[in-house]
Amino acid sequence: MTDTAAQGPAPDDDREVLTTRQGHPVADNQNQRTVGARGPATLENYHFLEKISHFDRERIPERVVHARGAVAYGHFEATGKLGDEPIERYTRAKLFSEAGKRTDLAIRFSTVIGGRDSSEAARDPRGFAVKFYTEDGNWDLVGNNLGVFFIRDAIKFPDVIHALKPDPVTFRQEPARIFDFMSQTPEATHMLVNLFSPRGIPANYRTMQGFGVNTYRVNADGETHLVKYHWMPTVGVASLTEADAAAIQANDLGHASKDLYDRIEAGEFPEWDLLVQIMSDEEHPELDFDPLDDTKVWPENDFPPQLVGRMTLTSNVAHHFAENEQIAFGTGVLVDGLEFSDDKMLVGRTFSYSDTQRYRVGPNYLQLPVNQPKAPVRTNQQGGPMMYGVDDAGANPHVNYEPSVTGGLREAQAASPDEIGSQITGRVTRARIPLTNDYQQAGERYQLMEEWEKDDLVANLVANIGEAVPEVQQRMVWHFLMADDELGGRVGEGLGISADAVRDLEPLPSQTLSDEEEKRQANLG
Ligand code: HEM
Repeated sequence: MTDTAAQGPAPDDDREVLTTRQGHPVADNQNQRTVGARGPATLENYHFLEKISHFDRERIPERVVHARGAVAYGHFEATGKLGDEPIERYTRAKLFSEAGKRTDLAIRFSTVIGGRDSSEAARDPRGFAVKFYTEDGNWDLVGNNLGVFFIRDAIKFPDVIHALKPDPVTFRQEPARIFDFMSQTPEATHMLVNLFSPRGIPANYRTMQGFGVNTYRVNADGETHLVKYHWMPTVGVASLTEADAAAIQANDLGHASKDLYDRIEAGEFPEWDLLVQIMSDEEHPELDFDPLDDTKVWPENDFPPQLVGRMTLTSNVAHHFAENEQIAFGTGVLVDGLEFSDDKMLVGRTFSYSDTQRYRVGPNYLQLPVNQPKAPVRTNQQGGPMMYGVDDAGANPHVNYEPSVTGGLREAQAASPDEIGSQITGRVTRARIPLTNDYQQAGERYQLMEEWEKDDLVANLVANIGEAVPEVQQRMVWHFLMADDELGGRVGEGLGISADAVRDLEPLPSQTLSDEEEKRQANLG
Protein backbone atom coordinates (compact mmCIF):
# COMPACT_ATOMS: atom_id res chain seq x y z
CA MET A 1 0.00 0.00 0.00
CA THR A 2 1.27 3.50 -0.80
CA ASP A 3 2.15 5.55 2.21
CA THR A 4 0.87 8.92 1.01
CA ALA A 5 1.36 10.49 4.44
CA ALA A 6 5.03 9.78 4.14
CA GLN A 7 4.97 11.30 0.69
CA GLY A 8 2.66 14.19 1.65
CA PRO A 9 0.29 15.95 -0.72
CA ALA A 10 1.55 17.10 -4.11
CA PRO A 11 2.29 20.87 -4.04
CA ASP A 12 -0.32 21.58 -6.76
CA ASP A 13 -3.14 19.49 -5.12
CA ASP A 14 -5.85 22.09 -4.41
CA ARG A 15 -8.58 19.64 -3.26
CA GLU A 16 -10.19 20.17 0.17
CA VAL A 17 -8.48 18.55 3.15
CA LEU A 18 -9.90 15.39 4.81
CA THR A 19 -10.89 15.90 8.48
CA THR A 20 -12.31 13.82 11.32
CA ARG A 21 -15.90 14.45 12.36
CA GLN A 22 -14.44 16.68 15.10
CA GLY A 23 -12.93 18.93 12.43
CA HIS A 24 -9.33 17.82 12.95
CA PRO A 25 -7.30 17.66 9.71
CA VAL A 26 -6.17 14.09 8.92
CA ALA A 27 -2.50 14.00 7.97
CA ASP A 28 -2.21 10.20 7.71
CA ASN A 29 -5.20 8.15 6.56
CA GLN A 30 -3.12 5.07 5.66
CA ASN A 31 -1.48 3.96 8.92
CA GLN A 32 -2.96 3.48 12.38
CA ARG A 33 -0.93 4.45 15.43
CA THR A 34 1.32 1.65 16.66
CA VAL A 35 4.28 1.20 18.96
CA GLY A 36 7.00 1.15 16.34
CA ALA A 37 6.36 0.29 12.70
CA ARG A 38 5.53 -3.37 13.49
CA GLY A 39 4.27 -3.03 17.05
CA PRO A 40 0.81 -3.25 18.73
CA ALA A 41 -1.85 -0.55 18.23
CA THR A 42 -2.52 2.08 20.87
CA LEU A 43 -5.95 2.81 22.35
CA GLU A 44 -5.71 6.60 22.21
CA ASN A 45 -5.75 6.34 18.40
CA TYR A 46 -8.87 8.54 18.14
CA HIS A 47 -8.93 8.91 14.37
CA PHE A 48 -8.73 5.14 13.75
CA LEU A 49 -11.36 4.27 16.40
CA GLU A 50 -13.78 6.91 15.13
CA LYS A 51 -13.37 5.77 11.54
CA ILE A 52 -13.90 2.06 12.27
CA SER A 53 -16.68 2.44 14.82
CA HIS A 54 -18.64 4.72 12.49
CA PHE A 55 -18.17 2.19 9.69
CA ASP A 56 -19.45 -0.57 12.03
CA ARG A 57 -22.70 1.41 12.30
CA GLU A 58 -23.12 2.33 8.60
CA ARG A 59 -26.35 0.40 8.18
CA ILE A 60 -29.77 0.96 9.61
CA PRO A 61 -32.39 -1.79 9.36
CA GLU A 62 -33.68 -1.94 5.80
CA ARG A 63 -37.38 -1.26 5.33
CA VAL A 64 -39.37 -4.36 6.31
CA VAL A 65 -41.07 -3.99 2.90
CA HIS A 66 -40.08 -1.78 -0.07
CA ALA A 67 -36.38 -2.06 0.86
CA ARG A 68 -35.08 -1.29 -2.65
CA GLY A 69 -36.02 2.04 -4.13
CA ALA A 70 -35.01 5.12 -6.09
CA VAL A 71 -35.59 8.71 -4.97
CA ALA A 72 -35.88 11.83 -7.13
CA TYR A 73 -37.06 15.41 -6.66
CA GLY A 74 -39.30 17.69 -8.67
CA HIS A 75 -42.46 19.73 -8.45
CA PHE A 76 -46.21 19.46 -8.78
CA GLU A 77 -48.09 22.06 -10.82
CA ALA A 78 -51.81 22.42 -10.15
CA THR A 79 -54.55 23.07 -12.73
CA GLY A 80 -56.66 24.83 -10.08
CA LYS A 81 -59.66 22.87 -11.38
CA LEU A 82 -61.39 19.56 -11.07
CA GLY A 83 -62.83 18.92 -14.50
CA ASP A 84 -64.60 22.16 -15.43
CA GLU A 85 -65.21 23.23 -11.85
CA PRO A 86 -62.97 25.29 -9.57
CA ILE A 87 -61.26 22.86 -7.21
CA GLU A 88 -62.28 24.88 -4.10
CA ARG A 89 -65.68 23.24 -4.44
CA TYR A 90 -64.00 19.97 -3.37
CA THR A 91 -60.94 20.84 -1.30
CA ARG A 92 -59.36 23.79 0.40
CA ALA A 93 -55.88 22.15 0.23
CA LYS A 94 -53.72 25.05 -0.90
CA LEU A 95 -51.43 23.05 -3.16
CA PHE A 96 -54.36 22.44 -5.55
CA SER A 97 -55.87 25.92 -5.31
CA GLU A 98 -54.60 27.96 -8.28
CA ALA A 99 -53.71 27.17 -11.87
CA GLY A 100 -49.92 27.10 -12.21
CA LYS A 101 -49.21 26.85 -8.45
CA ARG A 102 -46.03 24.81 -7.87
CA THR A 103 -45.16 22.65 -4.87
CA ASP A 104 -41.78 20.96 -4.39
CA LEU A 105 -41.81 17.21 -3.89
CA ALA A 106 -39.72 14.09 -3.38
CA ILE A 107 -40.72 10.70 -4.79
CA ARG A 108 -39.56 7.20 -3.95
CA PHE A 109 -40.29 4.32 -6.32
CA SER A 110 -39.67 0.83 -4.97
CA THR A 111 -40.13 -2.89 -5.26
CA VAL A 112 -41.85 -4.52 -2.28
CA ILE A 113 -40.54 -7.94 -1.38
CA GLY A 114 -36.83 -8.13 -2.22
CA GLY A 115 -34.04 -6.80 0.00
CA ARG A 116 -32.05 -3.61 -0.48
CA ASP A 117 -29.91 -5.02 -3.34
CA SER A 118 -32.53 -7.24 -5.02
CA SER A 119 -33.64 -7.25 -8.66
CA GLU A 120 -35.74 -4.40 -10.01
CA ALA A 121 -37.09 -6.70 -12.73
CA ALA A 122 -38.95 -8.91 -10.25
CA ARG A 123 -42.66 -9.69 -10.53
CA ASP A 124 -43.75 -7.60 -7.57
CA PRO A 125 -45.98 -4.58 -6.96
CA ARG A 126 -44.08 -1.29 -7.19
CA GLY A 127 -44.27 1.43 -4.55
CA PHE A 128 -45.08 4.97 -5.68
CA ALA A 129 -44.65 7.30 -2.70
CA VAL A 130 -44.77 11.09 -3.11
CA LYS A 131 -43.91 13.66 -0.42
CA PHE A 132 -45.27 17.13 -1.19
CA TYR A 133 -43.51 19.89 0.78
CA THR A 134 -46.53 22.24 0.92
CA GLU A 135 -46.84 25.63 2.61
CA ASP A 136 -49.17 23.96 5.14
CA GLY A 137 -46.66 21.19 5.96
CA ASN A 138 -46.02 17.85 4.29
CA TRP A 139 -48.50 15.65 2.44
CA ASP A 140 -47.46 12.05 1.67
CA LEU A 141 -49.37 10.03 -0.93
CA VAL A 142 -48.08 6.47 -0.48
CA GLY A 143 -49.36 4.24 -3.26
CA ASN A 144 -48.57 1.48 -5.72
CA ASN A 145 -48.62 0.85 -9.48
CA LEU A 146 -51.48 -1.65 -9.62
CA GLY A 147 -54.37 0.32 -8.11
CA VAL A 148 -55.58 -2.42 -5.74
CA PHE A 149 -54.15 -4.55 -2.94
CA PHE A 150 -54.18 -8.19 -1.72
CA ILE A 151 -56.17 -7.64 1.48
CA ARG A 152 -58.68 -5.16 2.87
CA ASP A 153 -58.03 -5.37 6.63
CA ALA A 154 -54.69 -4.21 8.06
CA ILE A 155 -54.65 -7.06 10.60
CA LYS A 156 -53.74 -9.45 7.75
CA PHE A 157 -50.71 -7.44 6.53
CA PRO A 158 -47.98 -9.35 8.44
CA ASP A 159 -49.44 -12.63 7.10
CA VAL A 160 -49.59 -11.61 3.44
CA ILE A 161 -46.05 -10.23 3.67
CA HIS A 162 -44.71 -13.37 5.42
CA ALA A 163 -46.23 -15.49 2.65
CA LEU A 164 -44.65 -13.33 -0.07
CA LYS A 165 -41.24 -12.95 1.62
CA PRO A 166 -38.64 -15.74 1.67
CA ASP A 167 -39.36 -18.99 3.52
CA PRO A 168 -38.11 -18.73 7.14
CA VAL A 169 -36.08 -21.93 6.70
CA THR A 170 -34.78 -21.92 3.11
CA PHE A 171 -34.83 -18.12 2.69
CA ARG A 172 -36.21 -18.50 -0.84
CA GLN A 173 -39.39 -16.94 -2.14
CA GLU A 174 -41.61 -19.98 -2.63
CA PRO A 175 -44.69 -19.87 -4.91
CA ALA A 176 -46.11 -22.81 -2.91
CA ARG A 177 -46.23 -20.68 0.25
CA ILE A 178 -47.60 -17.64 -1.60
CA PHE A 179 -50.49 -19.58 -3.13
CA ASP A 180 -51.15 -21.49 0.10
CA PHE A 181 -52.00 -18.11 1.66
CA MET A 182 -53.74 -16.67 -1.43
CA SER A 183 -55.96 -19.75 -1.80
CA GLN A 184 -57.43 -18.87 1.61
CA THR A 185 -57.71 -15.15 0.77
CA PRO A 186 -60.44 -14.66 -1.85
CA GLU A 187 -60.15 -10.87 -1.74
CA ALA A 188 -56.65 -11.23 -3.29
CA THR A 189 -58.05 -12.54 -6.63
CA HIS A 190 -58.25 -9.09 -8.25
CA MET A 191 -54.66 -8.21 -7.24
CA LEU A 192 -53.38 -11.59 -8.48
CA VAL A 193 -54.96 -11.07 -11.92
CA ASN A 194 -53.04 -7.78 -12.12
CA LEU A 195 -49.77 -8.97 -10.60
CA PHE A 196 -49.38 -12.07 -12.78
CA SER A 197 -50.26 -10.17 -15.96
CA PRO A 198 -47.51 -8.20 -17.78
CA ARG A 199 -48.37 -5.19 -15.55
CA GLY A 200 -46.71 -7.16 -12.71
CA ILE A 201 -43.25 -6.28 -14.09
CA PRO A 202 -43.14 -2.59 -15.08
CA ALA A 203 -40.49 -1.84 -17.73
CA ASN A 204 -39.02 0.87 -15.48
CA TYR A 205 -40.16 3.49 -13.00
CA ARG A 206 -40.73 6.22 -15.62
CA THR A 207 -43.35 4.28 -17.53
CA MET A 208 -45.58 3.01 -14.77
CA GLN A 209 -48.80 4.33 -13.28
CA GLY A 210 -49.24 5.19 -9.62
CA PHE A 211 -52.36 4.95 -7.49
CA GLY A 212 -53.20 6.08 -3.97
CA VAL A 213 -55.14 2.75 -3.77
CA ASN A 214 -56.84 3.53 -0.47
CA THR A 215 -59.85 5.84 -0.46
CA TYR A 216 -59.33 9.23 1.17
CA ARG A 217 -61.56 12.25 1.75
CA VAL A 218 -61.23 15.81 0.50
CA ASN A 219 -62.71 18.67 2.49
CA ALA A 220 -63.96 22.05 1.31
CA ASP A 221 -65.08 24.06 4.33
CA GLY A 222 -66.76 21.16 6.03
CA GLU A 223 -68.29 19.43 3.00
CA THR A 224 -66.41 16.21 2.29
CA HIS A 225 -66.15 13.90 -0.74
CA LEU A 226 -64.48 10.51 -1.13
CA VAL A 227 -61.48 10.52 -3.45
CA LYS A 228 -59.08 8.15 -5.21
CA TYR A 229 -55.77 9.38 -6.69
CA HIS A 230 -54.17 8.23 -9.97
CA TRP A 231 -50.79 9.11 -11.52
CA MET A 232 -50.51 8.61 -15.31
CA PRO A 233 -47.07 8.76 -16.97
CA THR A 234 -47.24 11.16 -19.92
CA VAL A 235 -45.04 8.81 -21.99
CA GLY A 236 -47.47 5.90 -21.53
CA VAL A 237 -47.22 2.59 -19.69
CA ALA A 238 -44.69 -0.12 -20.58
CA SER A 239 -44.24 -3.56 -19.01
CA LEU A 240 -41.99 -6.61 -19.33
CA THR A 241 -42.73 -10.26 -19.96
CA GLU A 242 -40.96 -12.90 -17.85
CA ALA A 243 -38.48 -13.45 -20.69
CA ASP A 244 -37.70 -9.71 -21.03
CA ALA A 245 -37.23 -9.47 -17.27
CA ALA A 246 -34.98 -12.53 -17.11
CA ALA A 247 -32.71 -11.05 -19.80
CA ILE A 248 -32.45 -7.72 -17.95
CA GLN A 249 -31.74 -9.17 -14.53
CA ALA A 250 -29.09 -11.49 -15.93
CA ASN A 251 -26.94 -8.37 -16.37
CA ASP A 252 -28.32 -5.71 -14.06
CA LEU A 253 -30.29 -5.85 -10.81
CA GLY A 254 -30.86 -2.09 -10.75
CA HIS A 255 -31.99 -1.18 -14.27
CA ALA A 256 -34.99 0.90 -13.14
CA SER A 257 -32.98 3.08 -10.71
CA LYS A 258 -30.34 3.55 -13.41
CA ASP A 259 -32.92 4.51 -16.04
CA LEU A 260 -34.49 7.11 -13.73
CA TYR A 261 -31.14 8.55 -12.66
CA ASP A 262 -29.71 8.71 -16.20
CA ARG A 263 -32.80 10.31 -17.74
CA ILE A 264 -32.92 13.01 -15.10
CA GLU A 265 -29.18 13.69 -15.43
CA ALA A 266 -29.69 13.96 -19.23
CA GLY A 267 -32.43 16.58 -18.70
CA GLU A 268 -35.22 14.30 -19.95
CA PHE A 269 -37.53 15.00 -17.05
CA PRO A 270 -40.19 12.32 -16.38
CA GLU A 271 -43.78 13.54 -15.95
CA TRP A 272 -47.04 12.19 -14.60
CA ASP A 273 -50.54 13.69 -14.65
CA LEU A 274 -52.45 13.50 -11.37
CA LEU A 275 -56.11 12.59 -11.81
CA VAL A 276 -58.75 12.09 -9.15
CA GLN A 277 -62.00 10.18 -8.96
CA ILE A 278 -64.63 11.77 -6.73
CA MET A 279 -67.65 10.20 -5.01
CA SER A 280 -70.20 11.80 -2.69
CA ASP A 281 -69.44 11.06 0.96
CA GLU A 282 -72.51 9.02 1.87
CA GLU A 283 -73.82 5.47 1.75
CA HIS A 284 -73.87 4.05 -1.78
CA PRO A 285 -76.34 1.15 -1.78
CA GLU A 286 -76.50 1.30 -5.59
CA LEU A 287 -72.85 0.16 -5.93
CA ASP A 288 -71.92 -3.51 -6.22
CA PHE A 289 -68.70 -2.88 -4.25
CA ASP A 290 -67.71 -1.02 -1.09
CA PRO A 291 -65.97 2.26 -1.97
CA LEU A 292 -63.73 1.89 1.12
CA ASP A 293 -62.46 -1.54 -0.01
CA ASP A 294 -58.92 -1.32 -1.41
CA THR A 295 -59.30 -4.56 -3.38
CA LYS A 296 -61.64 -2.63 -5.70
CA VAL A 297 -61.31 0.07 -8.35
CA TRP A 298 -64.04 2.63 -8.99
CA PRO A 299 -65.45 2.14 -12.52
CA GLU A 300 -64.16 4.97 -14.71
CA ASN A 301 -67.44 5.34 -16.60
CA ASP A 302 -69.30 6.19 -13.40
CA PHE A 303 -66.45 8.08 -11.71
CA PRO A 304 -64.35 9.62 -14.49
CA PRO A 305 -60.75 10.43 -13.53
CA GLN A 306 -60.26 14.21 -13.71
CA LEU A 307 -57.02 16.10 -14.11
CA VAL A 308 -55.83 18.20 -11.16
CA GLY A 309 -52.13 18.71 -11.94
CA ARG A 310 -48.84 17.42 -13.27
CA MET A 311 -45.66 16.18 -11.55
CA THR A 312 -42.24 16.71 -13.17
CA LEU A 313 -39.04 15.15 -11.78
CA THR A 314 -36.01 17.37 -12.26
CA SER A 315 -33.17 16.24 -9.96
CA ASN A 316 -31.53 13.24 -8.34
CA VAL A 317 -30.39 12.64 -4.78
CA ALA A 318 -27.01 13.91 -3.64
CA HIS A 319 -26.58 10.89 -1.33
CA HIS A 320 -28.38 7.54 -1.39
CA PHE A 321 -28.28 6.92 2.36
CA ALA A 322 -29.27 10.42 3.50
CA GLU A 323 -32.13 10.83 1.07
CA ASN A 324 -33.30 7.32 0.13
CA GLU A 325 -32.64 5.11 3.17
CA GLN A 326 -33.75 7.88 5.53
CA ILE A 327 -36.75 9.28 3.70
CA ALA A 328 -39.92 8.36 5.56
CA PHE A 329 -43.44 8.40 4.15
CA GLY A 330 -46.72 7.76 5.93
CA THR A 331 -50.43 7.68 5.16
CA GLY A 332 -51.14 9.85 8.22
CA VAL A 333 -49.21 12.77 6.75
CA LEU A 334 -52.05 14.92 5.38
CA VAL A 335 -52.60 18.68 5.04
CA ASP A 336 -55.69 20.76 5.72
CA GLY A 337 -58.32 19.96 3.09
CA LEU A 338 -57.20 16.32 2.66
CA GLU A 339 -58.46 13.71 5.11
CA PHE A 340 -58.68 10.02 6.05
CA SER A 341 -61.57 7.75 5.34
CA ASP A 342 -62.70 4.76 7.42
CA ASP A 343 -60.94 2.34 5.02
CA LYS A 344 -59.71 -0.38 7.43
CA MET A 345 -56.37 -0.67 5.67
CA LEU A 346 -55.71 3.04 5.82
CA VAL A 347 -56.06 3.24 9.59
CA GLY A 348 -53.68 0.30 10.07
CA ARG A 349 -51.16 1.72 7.63
CA THR A 350 -51.24 5.06 9.37
CA PHE A 351 -50.03 3.51 12.63
CA SER A 352 -47.48 1.24 10.97
CA TYR A 353 -45.42 3.77 8.97
CA SER A 354 -44.39 6.16 11.73
CA ASP A 355 -44.02 3.23 14.15
CA THR A 356 -41.49 1.49 11.89
CA GLN A 357 -39.70 4.77 11.14
CA ARG A 358 -39.13 5.50 14.84
CA TYR A 359 -37.46 2.08 15.01
CA ARG A 360 -35.76 2.08 11.59
CA VAL A 361 -34.45 5.64 11.47
CA GLY A 362 -34.95 6.87 15.05
CA PRO A 363 -37.44 8.95 17.04
CA ASN A 364 -36.17 12.22 15.57
CA TYR A 365 -36.50 11.05 11.95
CA LEU A 366 -38.62 14.09 11.12
CA GLN A 367 -35.67 16.41 11.84
CA LEU A 368 -33.67 14.97 8.93
CA PRO A 369 -33.52 17.35 5.97
CA VAL A 370 -35.32 15.04 3.52
CA ASN A 371 -38.25 14.58 5.92
CA GLN A 372 -38.42 18.09 7.32
CA PRO A 373 -41.38 20.16 6.14
CA LYS A 374 -40.56 23.41 4.34
CA ALA A 375 -43.36 25.04 6.36
CA PRO A 376 -42.28 26.41 9.77
CA VAL A 377 -42.10 23.75 12.53
CA ARG A 378 -42.65 24.86 16.12
CA THR A 379 -43.43 22.09 18.59
CA ASN A 380 -42.93 21.64 22.32
CA GLN A 381 -41.37 18.23 21.66
CA GLN A 382 -37.77 17.88 22.74
CA GLY A 383 -34.93 15.44 23.34
CA GLY A 384 -34.56 11.86 22.23
CA PRO A 385 -31.61 10.23 20.47
CA MET A 386 -29.96 12.44 17.84
CA MET A 387 -32.08 15.54 18.49
CA TYR A 388 -30.35 18.38 16.72
CA GLY A 389 -33.07 20.71 15.50
CA VAL A 390 -34.18 23.39 17.98
CA ASP A 391 -37.64 24.66 17.13
CA ASP A 392 -38.30 28.39 17.16
CA ALA A 393 -39.97 28.72 20.56
CA GLY A 394 -41.32 32.24 20.00
CA ALA A 395 -40.78 35.19 22.33
CA ASN A 396 -40.12 33.24 25.55
CA PRO A 397 -37.83 30.21 25.10
CA HIS A 398 -38.37 29.15 28.76
CA VAL A 399 -41.95 28.14 28.00
CA ASN A 400 -41.87 24.66 26.41
CA TYR A 401 -45.47 23.89 27.33
CA GLU A 402 -48.91 25.09 26.29
CA PRO A 403 -51.14 26.77 27.51
CA SER A 404 -49.20 29.57 29.20
CA VAL A 405 -49.85 33.21 30.07
CA THR A 406 -46.14 34.07 30.03
CA GLY A 407 -45.30 33.24 26.42
CA GLY A 408 -44.64 30.13 24.39
CA LEU A 409 -46.58 28.94 21.39
CA ARG A 410 -50.32 29.36 20.87
CA GLU A 411 -52.89 27.21 19.08
CA ALA A 412 -53.70 28.01 15.43
CA GLN A 413 -57.01 29.39 14.26
CA ALA A 414 -59.20 26.43 13.26
CA ALA A 415 -59.35 26.20 9.47
CA SER A 416 -63.13 25.98 9.60
CA PRO A 417 -64.60 26.85 13.02
CA ASP A 418 -68.01 25.35 12.30
CA GLU A 419 -66.67 22.04 11.11
CA ILE A 420 -68.10 18.91 12.69
CA GLY A 421 -67.02 15.37 11.84
CA SER A 422 -69.25 12.64 10.52
CA GLN A 423 -71.47 10.85 13.03
CA ILE A 424 -70.68 7.16 13.32
CA THR A 425 -72.70 4.64 15.29
CA GLY A 426 -72.31 0.90 15.61
CA ARG A 427 -71.24 -1.80 18.02
CA VAL A 428 -67.58 -2.56 18.58
CA THR A 429 -67.00 -5.86 16.83
CA ARG A 430 -64.74 -7.92 14.60
CA ALA A 431 -66.48 -8.46 11.29
CA ARG A 432 -65.64 -8.36 7.64
CA ILE A 433 -67.37 -5.72 5.52
CA PRO A 434 -70.82 -6.90 4.38
CA LEU A 435 -70.27 -6.41 0.63
CA THR A 436 -67.13 -8.31 -0.38
CA ASN A 437 -67.78 -9.06 -4.10
CA ASP A 438 -64.32 -10.62 -4.40
CA TYR A 439 -64.49 -11.85 -7.99
CA GLN A 440 -66.42 -9.52 -10.31
CA GLN A 441 -63.69 -6.92 -10.89
CA ALA A 442 -61.04 -9.65 -11.19
CA GLY A 443 -63.10 -11.18 -14.02
CA GLU A 444 -63.70 -7.80 -15.67
CA ARG A 445 -59.98 -7.05 -15.56
CA TYR A 446 -59.26 -10.36 -17.34
CA GLN A 447 -61.93 -9.67 -19.98
CA LEU A 448 -60.37 -6.28 -20.76
CA MET A 449 -56.92 -7.76 -21.46
CA GLU A 450 -55.52 -8.21 -24.93
CA GLU A 451 -55.03 -11.83 -26.04
CA TRP A 452 -51.26 -11.81 -25.46
CA GLU A 453 -51.80 -10.43 -21.94
CA LYS A 454 -54.31 -13.18 -21.17
CA ASP A 455 -51.83 -15.78 -22.43
CA ASP A 456 -49.04 -14.30 -20.33
CA LEU A 457 -51.27 -14.17 -17.21
CA VAL A 458 -52.38 -17.80 -17.58
CA ALA A 459 -48.81 -19.02 -18.21
CA ASN A 460 -47.49 -17.15 -15.15
CA LEU A 461 -50.26 -18.40 -12.89
CA VAL A 462 -49.86 -22.00 -14.04
CA ALA A 463 -46.08 -21.93 -13.56
CA ASN A 464 -46.36 -20.60 -10.01
CA ILE A 465 -49.50 -22.34 -8.74
CA GLY A 466 -48.11 -25.60 -10.14
CA GLU A 467 -45.59 -25.60 -7.29
CA ALA A 468 -48.32 -25.71 -4.63
CA VAL A 469 -49.97 -28.81 -3.12
CA PRO A 470 -53.03 -30.20 -5.02
CA GLU A 471 -55.57 -28.77 -2.54
CA VAL A 472 -54.19 -25.26 -3.07
CA GLN A 473 -54.12 -25.71 -6.87
CA GLN A 474 -57.77 -26.77 -6.87
CA ARG A 475 -58.84 -23.87 -4.69
CA MET A 476 -56.99 -21.37 -6.89
CA VAL A 477 -58.72 -22.75 -10.00
CA TRP A 478 -62.02 -22.39 -8.14
CA HIS A 479 -61.31 -18.71 -7.33
CA PHE A 480 -60.46 -17.98 -10.99
CA LEU A 481 -63.59 -19.81 -12.17
CA MET A 482 -65.61 -17.57 -9.86
CA ALA A 483 -63.94 -14.55 -11.51
CA ASP A 484 -64.24 -15.68 -15.13
CA ASP A 485 -65.11 -19.06 -16.55
CA GLU A 486 -62.52 -18.87 -19.31
CA LEU A 487 -59.74 -17.78 -16.94
CA GLY A 488 -60.51 -20.56 -14.44
CA GLY A 489 -60.82 -23.09 -17.26
CA ARG A 490 -57.47 -22.12 -18.79
CA VAL A 491 -55.58 -22.12 -15.48
CA GLY A 492 -57.18 -25.48 -14.65
CA GLU A 493 -56.20 -26.90 -18.04
CA GLY A 494 -52.61 -25.77 -17.53
CA LEU A 495 -52.55 -27.49 -14.13
CA GLY A 496 -54.30 -30.64 -15.36
CA ILE A 497 -57.41 -29.91 -13.26
CA SER A 498 -60.82 -30.13 -14.89
CA ALA A 499 -63.04 -27.13 -14.15
CA ASP A 500 -65.99 -29.47 -13.56
CA ALA A 501 -64.08 -31.30 -10.85
CA VAL A 502 -63.64 -28.15 -8.73
CA ARG A 503 -66.64 -26.01 -9.65
CA ASP A 504 -68.72 -27.50 -6.85
CA LEU A 505 -66.23 -26.94 -4.05
CA GLU A 506 -67.85 -25.36 -1.00
CA PRO A 507 -66.94 -21.68 -0.41
CA LEU A 508 -64.27 -21.14 2.23
CA PRO A 509 -65.51 -20.84 5.83
CA SER A 510 -64.40 -17.19 5.78
CA GLN A 511 -66.74 -16.56 2.83
CA THR A 512 -69.92 -17.71 4.50
CA LEU A 513 -71.72 -16.56 7.62
CA SER A 514 -73.48 -18.93 10.02
CA ASP A 515 -77.12 -18.05 10.80
CA GLU A 516 -75.99 -16.74 14.15
CA GLU A 517 -73.33 -14.52 12.57
CA GLU A 518 -75.84 -13.20 10.06
CA LYS A 519 -78.14 -12.21 12.91
CA ARG A 520 -75.26 -10.56 14.73
CA GLN A 521 -74.28 -8.64 11.57
CA ALA A 522 -77.86 -7.47 11.14
CA ASN A 523 -77.84 -6.14 14.71
CA LEU A 524 -74.63 -4.24 14.22
CA GLY A 525 -76.26 -1.53 12.17
C1 HEM B 1 -43.68 0.85 2.97
C2 HEM B 1 -46.70 -1.12 6.15
C3 HEM B 1 -50.11 -1.48 2.78
C4 HEM B 1 -47.36 1.17 -0.14
C5 HEM B 1 -44.18 0.28 4.10
C6 HEM B 1 -43.45 0.09 5.31
C7 HEM B 1 -44.30 -0.46 6.20
C8 HEM B 1 -45.57 -0.63 5.56
C9 HEM B 1 -44.00 -0.84 7.64
C10 HEM B 1 -42.00 0.47 5.54
C11 HEM B 1 -41.93 1.94 5.80
C12 HEM B 1 -40.57 2.42 6.18
O1 HEM B 1 -39.76 1.64 6.68
O2 HEM B 1 -40.33 3.64 6.01
C13 HEM B 1 -47.89 -1.33 5.51
C14 HEM B 1 -49.07 -1.89 6.14
C15 HEM B 1 -50.01 -2.01 5.19
C16 HEM B 1 -49.45 -1.52 3.96
C17 HEM B 1 -49.18 -2.25 7.62
C18 HEM B 1 -51.42 -2.53 5.28
C19 HEM B 1 -52.11 -2.53 6.38
C20 HEM B 1 -49.68 -0.78 1.70
C21 HEM B 1 -50.46 -0.50 0.54
C22 HEM B 1 -49.69 0.23 -0.28
C23 HEM B 1 -48.41 0.43 0.37
C24 HEM B 1 -51.93 -0.92 0.33
C25 HEM B 1 -50.01 0.80 -1.60
C26 HEM B 1 -51.07 1.51 -1.78
C27 HEM B 1 -46.16 1.31 0.46
C28 HEM B 1 -45.04 2.01 -0.13
C29 HEM B 1 -43.99 1.91 0.76
C30 HEM B 1 -44.46 1.15 1.88
C31 HEM B 1 -45.03 2.74 -1.46
C32 HEM B 1 -42.56 2.43 0.55
C33 HEM B 1 -42.42 3.85 1.03
C34 HEM B 1 -41.02 4.32 0.76
O3 HEM B 1 -40.67 4.37 -0.44
O4 HEM B 1 -40.30 4.63 1.70
N1 HEM B 1 -45.48 -0.18 4.26
N2 HEM B 1 -48.16 -1.11 4.21
N3 HEM B 1 -48.44 -0.20 1.57
N4 HEM B 1 -45.77 0.82 1.68
FE1 HEM B 1 -46.96 -0.13 2.93
